[in-house]
Amino acid sequence: MTKKIAVLPGDGIGPEVTAEAVKVLERLRRDFGLKIELETAPVGGAAYDLHKHPLPDSTLTLARAADAVLLGAVGGPQYDTLPRALRPEKALLGLRAELKLFANLRPAILYPQLASASTLRPEVVAGLDLLIVRELTGDIYFGEPRGVRVRADGEREGFNTMVYAEHEVERVARVAFDAARKRRKKLCSVEKANVLETSGLWREVVIRVAKDYPEIELSHMYVDNAAMQLVRAPKQFDVIVTGNLFGDILSDEAAMLTGSIGMLPSASLDAADKGMYEPIHGSAPDIAGKGIANPLATILSVAMMLRYTLNAPVLADKIEQAVSKVLDRGLRTGDIYTEGTKKVGTKEMGDAVVTAL
Ligand code: IPM
Ligand code: MG
Repeated sequence: MTKKIAVLPGDGIGPEVTAEAVKVLERLRRDFGLKIELETAPVGGAAYDLHKHPLPDSTLTLARAADAVLLGAVGGPQYDTLPRALRPEKALLGLRAELKLFANLRPAILYPQLASASTLRPEVVAGLDLLIVRELTGDIYFGEPRGVRVRADGEREGFNTMVYAEHEVERVARVAFDAARKRRKKLCSVEKANVLETSGLWREVVIRVAKDYPEIELSHMYVDNAAMQLVRAPKQFDVIVTGNLFGDILSDEAAMLTGSIGMLPSASLDAADKGMYEPIHGSAPDIAGKGIANPLATILSVAMMLRYTLNAPVLADKIEQAVSKVLDRGLRTGDIYTEGTKKVGTKEMGDAVVTAL
């Protein structure tokens, strides 16, 4: 059966990197029998410019109907003064909530070819392969009440609510335990149970779920310590499971261990493995339109799509091998460039991957 993929390029470098990932998909369709049909729609600031809303009904309807969503990036300084409900970021949060994409998988893998691109010493990061499973539809990101209110004394205060229901913790914990089962069988649950009630409950639920996974070695870590351990000795981790806010922060930190956030894909999955796939980097407005952004994170996001939603693991491997080959050939975009390698632009990098396929 033909699978439908919604392509939402978005803002900044989003359209440039998405175009390269689409080339890869087209190649797989033409030469490797992948049965897909692509449809593009605006999202984020691009959608606001066209429809005065970052997530127009037509885009949401397309995303709902699709088997998988490929997203570039959203956001840009020209939208930062809009009311919060109309900002590009709201489209991303809206898609996550509407499509019930509660499990966000963010692998941080150091390609051996890029060991010297990391700011950490090679022996600290060589061979790094960790997976952050971030809860994506709960926590302080969505908790109510929220807002800015005026106190009795006339001073304004901002407030948000960190909240997790047991079922929300349980379902993301299961995704993480299942992932650990297919890897090195270690899971570290990260929270702040020494201070927060939400985290205390989180830990209780994770311990309860662990009973169904006796073969997994479970540990718990406070988020401040986890942030430190990630730069001190990142190879101690296999799978990390954490809440929405902590996961947002730790996944950026983990990304940087690998040298560039331009290399890292992500998958956001619902209970039936329908997913939205996007590079974890943002819209990078400073380099947008220059043709120099790294398309590899988006291309690798397509590999995750093939593996998790389209059930084509062989093609997923193929993409990952093609990326590795291109790195072997010494091709580098500016973000991963080191002396002695060959600097290329977004298109050249995308074309090289398509050729390597
Ligand atoms: C991410 C981003 C988003 C988030 C922003 C753009 C809303 O930082 O996907 O990590 O905070 O979740
Ligand atoms: Mg983030």
